[in-house]
Amino acid sequence: MARILITSALPYINGIKHLGNLVGSQLPSDTYARYMRARGHEVMYICATDEHGTPAEIAAAKAGKPVAEYCAEMHEVQAELARGFRLSFDFFGRSSSARNRQLTQHLAKRLGENGLIEVVTEKQVYSKADGRFLPDRYIEGTCPNCGYDSARGDQCENCTKQLDPTDLINPRSAISGSTDLEVRETKHLFLRQSKLRDRLDAWIDSKKDWPILTTSIAKKWLHDGDGLQDRGITRDLDWGIPVQFPGAPWEGMEGKVFYVWFDAPIEYIGATAEWADANGLDDSAWERWWRTDKGADDVRYVQFMGKDNVPFHTLSFPATLMGSEEPWKLVDYIKSFNYLNYDGGQFSTSKGRGVFMDQALEILPSDYWRWWLLSHVPENSDSEFTWENFQASINKDLADVLGNFVSRVTKFCRSKFGEVVPEGGAYGAAEQAVIDEISTRLAAYQAHMEAIEIRKATAELRAIWAVGNEYLQEAAPWAVFKTDPERAGAIIRFALNLIRLYAVLSEPFIPDASRAMLDAMKTDVRDWPGDVSAALAELKPGHPFSVPEVLFAKITDAAREEMEERFKGR
Ligand code: 2FM
Ligand code: ZN
Repeated sequence: MARILITSALPYINGIKHLGNLVGSQLPSDTYARYMRARGHEVMYICATDEHGTPAEIAAAKAGKPVAEYCAEMHEVQAELARGFRLSFDFFGRSSSARNRQLTQHLAKRLGENGLIEVVTEKQVYSKADGRFLPDRYIEGTCPNCGYDSARGDQCENCTKQLDPTDLINPRSAISGSTDLEVRETKHLFLRQSKLRDRLDAWIDSKKDWPILTTSIAKKWLHDGDGLQDRGITRDLDWGIPVQFPGAPWEGMEGKVFYVWFDAPIEYIGATAEWADANGLDDSAWERWWRTDKGADDVRYVQFMGKDNVPFHTLSFPATLMGSEEPWKLVDYIKSFNYLNYDGGQFSTSKGRGVFMDQALEILPSDYWRWWLLSHVPENSDSEFTWENFQASINKDLADVLGNFVSRVTKFCRSKFGEVVPEGGAYGAAEQAVIDEISTRLAAYQAHMEAIEIRKATAELRAIWAVGNEYLQEAAPWAVFKTDPERAGAIIRFALNLIRLYAVLSEPFIPDASRAMLDAMKTDVRDWPGDVSAALAELKPGHPFSVPEVLFAKITDAAREEMEERFKGR
């Protein structure tokens, strides 16, 4: 049994996330966490809302609310949606928590004491119309790297380049749209990341098994020209973690806060401490996940994120932890994702284009979305949501293959043998062939999950379901029953056992359907099958079951067209 720490990139607090956000970290990390728990490992699965910085301030201003109130409300909204999608976080924290404030100030202090922080007088964009500095997202313009015309002051979402507001071409205020901007001087803390460059380089080199998407982005920022620049880690904002605190090794930073990207990843640790607090545990409970001097040296730490987050997790956050010269646990594996597009374009909040998490749950149960998203997760390239593809996957994989199998087996048994597992004879060659095929496919499924190849794992799971359907088709118990009811009983006993096995194997992907299948089989035996043959003998003759409600309803053409229209955007 291993100990596995799993973090999902923290969703920004500003508004409800769309399905592209969901599939880019929270959903695959949940599936991985569920799988690892099912395999008997000790898992700590952490997420939180990312509440500081300009996105939060801008959204709160739009909503006409004080930013603290806005964040508290939106945290609850996001937590509720996470529950709706069955995201099984051990804790869903808040980066505005006291724990994160303490940890962030502590780490900054350590960096300062270790000569890695410098007070720099910097030129910043000031908007006369708005009467304030315009950090990060308060400013927009054209990316100097790729020419994208809506790049934000902190990062270009098109080419992932990290930017400074002064880098933008044709800058404008994101608050007022004003272009009446000037550059003024202000003092900020800079993290001397460049001093850690060789350590970071060697550390990334040691990660031979990382996905190419992860290492190529990290290496690019380490080696391309201005790669590992020293970066400003403070901002002229009101909302955030104060830079001037008792014991801080610098002066004169009143009224400034840490940059959101400095404190957000620290909240992975902060949220684990919040978890300990919420459960009445002392510090050793979270430290054994995060401090290598307190037991975390045998933890495997896996992070999940979209590709735009990779530079912060491969360079900035490790630089913070390494530079503290304290024994913090560094990430062991970074699983990063490409983007999910929506029907020939991008998801767009402003244009109302695409499906957002709240809308998705209004339309269909979470398992439908989980299945489609996980089986199309953008692992090796961008992928695209289309309603036709969604309809086809749901109707085929979930309704025709899995749902139909469960329904046929249970209904046939009820009508011929009653709602108990039939006696019948021993399993024969046909059953052995199924056991052999499922054993092979199960090994592949497990290998893909270990490697976090989610899409390949769904393909194996789907194939495991299909084996049952093909078996049923060939064994044809409805025909056999007429001449040999005993043999028909054995077939059905085997098929009912397959339903239980499917419930266990499907749980990381479609937890509600899994629960429904176990309930229908009136069992709670969910042990991961070591031996498929033994697992398929679990439900004994005479064991009661019930016919479940329809597991998955098909999506009609009319419903598909209606949804297509509803979400196409303005
Ligand atoms: O890109 C984003 O959505 C960020 N809120 C991710 C933060 S991840 C972590 F560092 F906190
Ligand atoms: Zn760009």
